[in-house]
Amino acid sequence: MKILVTGGAGFIGCNFVKLVLAEKPDWSVINLDLLTYAGNRESLRAEESTSRYRFVHGNICDAALVDSLVAEVDAVIHFAAESHNDNSLHDPSPFLQTNLIGTYTLLEAVRKHNKRYHHISTDEVYGDLELDDPDRFHETTPYNPSSPYSSTKAGSDMLVRAWVRSFKVQATISNCSNNYGSYQHVEKFIPRQITNLIDGIKPKLYGKGENVRDWIHVEDHNRAVLEILAKGRIGETYLIGADGEKNNKEVIELILELMGHDPKDYEHVSDRPGHDMRYAIDASKLRTELGWKPRYTAFRDGLKATVEWYQANQAWWRAAKEATEKKYAKLGR
Ligand code: NAD
Ligand code: DAU
Repeated sequence: MKILVTGGAGFIGCNFVKLVLAEKPDWSVINLDLLTYAGNRESLRAEESTSRYRFVHGNICDAALVDSLVAEVDAVIHFAAESHNDNSLHDPSPFLQTNLIGTYTLLEAVRKHNKRYHHISTDEVYGDLELDDPDRFHETTPYNPSSPYSSTKAGSDMLVRAWVRSFKVQATISNCSNNYGSYQHVEKFIPRQITNLIDGIKPKLYGKGENVRDWIHVEDHNRAVLEILAKGRIGETYLIGADGEKNNKEVIELILELMGHDPKDYEHVSDRPGHDMRYAIDASKLRTELGWKPRYTAFRDGLKATVEWYQANQAWWRAAKEATEKKYAKLGR
């Protein structure tokens, strides 16, 4: 099996490539990544010495390049995206380009070469839930995205569905909740707070911190993707989540405690405009149909390992930290 991974220099993609190379000895991987501010080639530098891995620096919107790479492989797993909500509120343009035109470009290539395609998407396409909503997101929840980021991800999902129906493209879609773990960019909530504390800066909580996210370890997400590739039904959507609902205040307090600080020693900053209140996934379809279940069931343990990874790998995140905090300072957050 030869696969093309897009966005493999990013957080989830690089963890996926590592998992595949470690556990699928007869698979080889091409990683197509533009190395935007969010991509870091160092994440897979060690893997570059294996003959089963090849890095290609390029844009998923480059139709000729995408066509030639898709022709070489059996399947495409599409992670590449502009992925950060705060950035999308500041400048939506690259989100439209990469998330919509990039997905379209890949779909046209898999259509032409008749290749298997898996589309990585997000639970944010469903909008948000009230804190006391008894229901969670499931595969038939109507789309209702809130931000430029989530609306372009929703649009990309719609393109995939249309290419399945109109052109019989062999695609599946997964919509996952918030991931945490190693190699996540320091702009995101958990790594930002850990690296702030390492640098002697107080953690920053948007608004009141009541917003709930449904946390899943990145390895559990990627193992679910492998199950969908192996056994998922073509044309189907699978929601991925690990029953990990926590509000942001609880998460910040736990990070402070794990790092030996007073759990109340954080500051409130201005809220994100249009901030989604709560995400929550019902992953029954994935669990019952494909037999997937999460391995990281204790959030505290997974978070502790994540804290230790950022403490031990400062060289990996140091360059991005200063630029990220400058960007947040401009936004007042
Ligand atoms: P990330 O921002 O860490 O990585 C994105 C990667 O895509 C980077 O390496 C970047 O260089 C690359 N990229 C961006 N534009 C590109 C282009 N035009 N051509 C080629 N490469 C390009 O993102 P992530 O958090 O790893 O998310 C990966 C995917 O998972 C995204 O599709 C995202 O929507 C989805 N997702 C993320 C989460 C989460 O919690 N992070 C949850 C659910 C779904
Ligand atoms: O639900 C899946 C989505 O999760 C993915 O599709 C996105 O790519 C990913 O970025 C993530 O989106 P969020 O907006 O939920 O993640 P973020 O890490 O930006 O923020 C998580 C929560 O923490 C959110 O409620 C905002 C809040 N927050 C964030 C930062 C950066 C803070 O309170 N303080 C902060 O400094």
